[in-house]
Amino acid sequence: FGVQDCLIEINPGRVLLPPDFQQIGERIINLPVHADDTWLVSYPRTGSTWAQEMVWCIGNDLNFEGAKQLQQLRCPLLELTAILTHDHGEWMEELGNSVNLVENMPAPRYIKTHLPWELLPIELKKKKPKIVYVARNPKDMCVSYYHYCKLVHNLQGSFEDFCELFLKDRAPVGPIWNHILGFWKRRHEPNILFLTYEDMKKDQEGAIRKTAKFLGKDLSDAEVTELANYLSFNNMRKNPAVNLEPVIDKKNGPNYMEKNQLFFIRKGEIGDWKNHMSPEIAAKFDVWTEENLKGTGLKF
Ligand code: A3P
Repeated sequence: FGVQDCLIEINPGRVLLPPDFQQIGERIINLPVHADDTWLVSYPRTGSTWAQEMVWCIGNDLNFEGAKQLQQLRCPLLELTAILTHDHGEWMEELGNSVNLVENMPAPRYIKTHLPWELLPIELKKKKPKIVYVARNPKDMCVSYYHYCKLVHNLQGSFEDFCELFLKDRAPVGPIWNHILGFWKRRHEPNILFLTYEDMKKDQEGAIRKTAKFLGKDLSDAEVTELANYLSFNNMRKNPAVNLEPVIDKKNGPNYMEKNQLFFIRKGEIGDWKNHMSPEIAAKFDVWTEENLKGTGLKF
């Protein structure tokens, strides 16, 4: 399958990451955390880039000029080193080593990660910085992740095979329920805000207000509307600071996304799974979701 072959298991059955993670995992676990950091944690393809942009803009008083810098440099994906060194070494020069970047960032820092609760820095649990967690309906996540793996990892398998991989908890970064529930069960802790893709999509302004309140920022109605407009799907899709275009072009040549109709910011809809999944696969997802969410109070 390609993608799966290059993964190793950490905490058997709990998380799957590229082998290079072994070189930085120790540094991440021991990373010094600041109380005034803001962390964005999510499973891939849940709307992390979108939520991260919202968090960064609110935290930085709608500094749209500053937001023109690549998001990866403003709020690095902490474990990116592991993902990129595997076969895209040249990107590293452009984007730097995430752990180094984070260690050298001036406060207050904005940090993004797809790691589950168990693999986050030990100090995070003591310093209790603000953490925004984003979750998404797993059927849409799976569709989105399949397209992402085709874009970034040159995935060759079929969509049906990818669904099976996902249902077996073998998609990178491993089991999704442990990931989501690790934060869902802590959602009432004062430093944790649990958001969903669906809530952001249905009510972007509401999500902005909720996040601003959590971050202790006051936004006027006009500012909320301005930010919602900046964060709209169409604007995010053409924004090179967040749409990965500069990175993909560097790897594959100019206009690769447009030419191949494969986009990092792809469709931005709730329920796109209906256009891709057979009723049989969708039913498997439903059973799997129900079994794992039973008694938790979480629904998608
Ligand atoms: P789709 O592939 O379903 O379109 P992540 O950043 O965690 O990788 O998540 C990517 C998903 O978020 C993609 O989903 C992407 O299109 C969607 N997304 C990004 N920006 C968005 C926006 N402004 N509005 C709605 N969806 C957005």
